[in-house]
Amino acid sequence: MNLLDIIYDGQAQYLQRAEEMVAKVVAEQGKETPVKFPGTAYALPCIYAITGKKITNVGELEEALALAKEYIHPAKTLQAGLDAGTASAMLAEIIEAVKFVYDPIPYKGRDAEDLNTAEIRTLGFLPDAEVRSFGVALVTQDIPGVAVLIGEAPDAETLASVVKDYQQKGLLTFMVGKVIDQAIEQNIKMGVDLRVIPLGYEIESVIHVVSVAIRASLIFGATKPGDFLAHRTYTKDRVKAFVNVFGGWDNKIIAAGAAAIELGFPATVDKYINEVPTLLLYQPDYEKVVATSLEARGIKIKITEIDCPVSVSSAFEGERVRKDTMFAEFGGNRTPAWELVTTGDLADIEDHKITLIGPDIDDAMFEEGKTVRLPLGVLVEVAGKDMQADFETVLERRIHYFLNYVEGAMHVGQRNSSWIRLTKEAYGKGFRLKHIGEVLYAKMRDDFDKVVDKCQVTIYTNKEDVERLYTEKAKPVYDKRDTRMAALTDDNVEEFYTCLLCQSFAPSHVCIVTPERLGLCGAVSWLDAKATKQLDPTGPNQPVIKGTAIDERLGIWDSVNEAVATNSQGAVESVTLYSILEDPMTSCGCFECICGIMPEANGVVIVNREHADITPVGMTFGELASMTGGGVQTPGFMGHGRQLLGSKKFMSAEGGLERIVWMPKALKDDVAERLNKAVKEMTGIDNFADMVCDETIAVDSEAVLEFLETKGHPALAMDPIM
Ligand code: SF4
Ligand code: NI
Ligand code: NI
Repeated sequence: MNLLDIIYDGQAQYLQRAEEMVAKVVAEQGKETPVKFPGTAYALPCIYAITGKKITNVGELEEALALAKEYIHPAKTLQAGLDAGTASAMLAEIIEAVKFVYDPIPYKGRDAEDLNTAEIRTLGFLPDAEVRSFGVALVTQDIPGVAVLIGEAPDAETLASVVKDYQQKGLLTFMVGKVIDQAIEQNIKMGVDLRVIPLGYEIESVIHVVSVAIRASLIFGATKPGDFLAHRTYTKDRVKAFVNVFGGWDNKIIAAGAAAIELGFPATVDKYINEVPTLLLYQPDYEKVVATSLEARGIKIKITEIDCPVSVSSAFEGERVRKDTMFAEFGGNRTPAWELVTTGDLADIEDHKITLIGPDIDDAMFEEGKTVRLPLGVLVEVAGKDMQADFETVLERRIHYFLNYVEGAMHVGQRNSSWIRLTKEAYGKGFRLKHIGEVLYAKMRDDFDKVVDKCQVTIYTNKEDVERLYTEKAKPVYDKRDTRMAALTDDNVEEFYTCLLCQSFAPSHVCIVTPERLGLCGAVSWLDAKATKQLDPTGPNQPVIKGTAIDERLGIWDSVNEAVATNSQGAVESVTLYSILEDPMTSCGCFECICGIMPEANGVVIVNREHADITPVGMTFGELASMTGGGVQTPGFMGHGRQLLGSKKFMSAEGGLERIVWMPKALKDDVAERLNKAVKEMTGIDNFADMVCDETIAVDSEAVLEFLETKGHPALAMDPIM
């Protein structure tokens, strides 16, 4: 068979299965039965993007079949073959959707608390929130690419070495088929957080990664449903995905491969088939699969040499260390711990000097088999001609990420609330405290090379030192910074900053970052932007010299409008910084929270990405989020960072923080302290967070209103919000 016939045969197999399954589900469940994937506002996302049609019930699956058939017209042209790939993708999505009609959780890994101890670990469909959570990492190249592994490698070790290589390089890896069992056999850590995602055993489950790419186009690109060419252009240009097929292919895999190629994703195979230059590649040497794939997709990886016995990669950022795998622990209220970055004189700092003062984790004083607990002070001293004291906090906050990158290390908190855990596995591989210094040294030099010319790290583990240096050294610095931060307001700085990082995914989105309004992803504060400008003068953060405001209440500046218009290529001409109703700032899609108006309560509800359930406005986070994004202005909806919930500028044009009537409890607990403080200073109201309703109190609109009335919530007495 030639390549096209192989694709047509594979596609015919999808068609037969889809037709049988649809006929069966129509007969057994009736046409009115709803059809949906969990946690998405985009129905069956691939079919929606390709055709513009939202499939919502079993009856409409018959229409979906007809839509897929429009792409079936076998001929001896490449495009006809690629169209058969598109049809196969739509048919696979139909097949998968039917599985969800019969069982709300057909992929049992979704039921598991911990994927690595669960029996069945497949995850299948990824909800919108998970797709959005990849946003920032994808734009910053923190996730440099997406690998899709299909089939079964010749042996588990081979598979493991490929997956570990991708994981080490920070890629997002999806697995379909027996490769999942091979990864389990080799103890590969899996999960959405760990960037290794077991989709399912049947080839049809590969549609769930296609759906991630397509939703990136819908969410971040604001690409129109039905404009398939635009979606293809988006995925080809912006989603750096590729496919590796192991253990020989069958016709269905090749038909799926045609769909991938149509989206711009090249594929490698280990059993020969006609080659299509740059798109379908034959690579029988498993040691070269990774290099071939990265080259085919133009993915370049920056490698930092670090003297450390375990892997250091952004892929391990989300790894948790539980009590039963823990070897050592620092801070977390059990021992005193702090971390501090300070600037010294070039002459006084000795580059790459790593010092441990006090016992290490293998000290003889520790009892065998018991968790090692030590006080910990981490002092990072840097020096450089262009280093500024303002950048210290930026560098210091990176400690959290850098230590989380360590395989087998978990870092939570900051300053004197830092909390670190190390696994037995990492200890077994030889990880010791000096390696904390090595990792911090290497990453600081690497990420901040423009301002850090020298860096030395000192680690203290004697209780007296840690406590004394906290009082003498760390606390005074924290206090000084807090005073400086409190004094940094939108009114008393000369410039704001643009952030264009997300343009790689949301081409017309521009964030304006101010001292009182950080980027909506939560990752870029005004100080971060200022530091980035220094590190990368022509980079994504450029100053906007403020000048005089046209309207102080709404937050309108000529300079800001100009910057937004230029940088969005004219897509957006005017934004306000302090209003949700008049020309609100646009969103890219990777916001931490979404805020929407609840008219009957005369206020707003706020939902964080992690909250999956319905809100009092009758929509989930995903549904609210789908109202905005892709650089589009939607009055009444605003994506923002968590930090904004302690800002006096939070939609101040409409009355500010006092308008908040409902938030998920977890979010409320997280921001309560800052929220209460800001509201108290502005209005004199104590403990405002207690007046804000949450899902443990009420979700139903009427019950929410009742609660607000009992609490005397200030929003009820304010001017009508709209
Ligand atoms: Fe994207 Fe805005 Fe965050 Fe920059 S500040 S990374 S543009 S969301
Ligand atoms: Ni880690
Ligand atoms: Ni973004």
